[in-house]
Amino acid sequence: MVTDLIDLKALDDERGGLVAIEEFDVGFEIKRVYFIFGTQPEVIRGLHAHRELKQVAIALSGRCTFLLDDGRERQTVVLDDPHRGLPIKSMIWREMSDFSPDCVLLVLASEPYDEADYIRSYEEFREAITATPSDPCRATI
Ligand code: TYD
Repeated sequence: MVTDLIDLKALDDERGGLVAIEEFDVGFEIKRVYFIFGTQPEVIRGLHAHRELKQVAIALSGRCTFLLDDGRERQTVVLDDPHRGLPIKSMIWREMSDFSPDCVLLVLASEPYDEADYIRSYEEFREAITATPSDPCRATI
């Protein structure tokens, strides 16, 4: 498995939902927040990996599907619950698709925006993964 959904701190009561997120919950200092909405259902977003950036994605409303690929394994995760977050560590190729019309996807990020941190070619991603000496399993791919 590439990643696993985390349960966020739900403070829902009879008045409605409330979810609180602190740095401790996501495992990194949150330096940037962005959200994606109004995505057409046929659109595929992402199509990149990050060299260093760590993120947690949360579907605040609606639904979308993440394809995650760590170079060894591919995993598909449906995000459709604002009480759950999807951690995405560095060097994970991601593709987001199947957005529902009401999908609002919130992303918490460990670093400010830096285009130099993106790997936008899948071929380059695979080469970078294979060249990573810290994980001997990856050298055999
Ligand atoms: P991108 O990360 O490629 O979007 P997605 O992965 O959802 O398809 O970002 C789209 C454009 O917006 C790209 O030109 C970079 C820019 N951008 C910023 O300037 N700041 C940001 O925080 C983000 C996430 C993107």
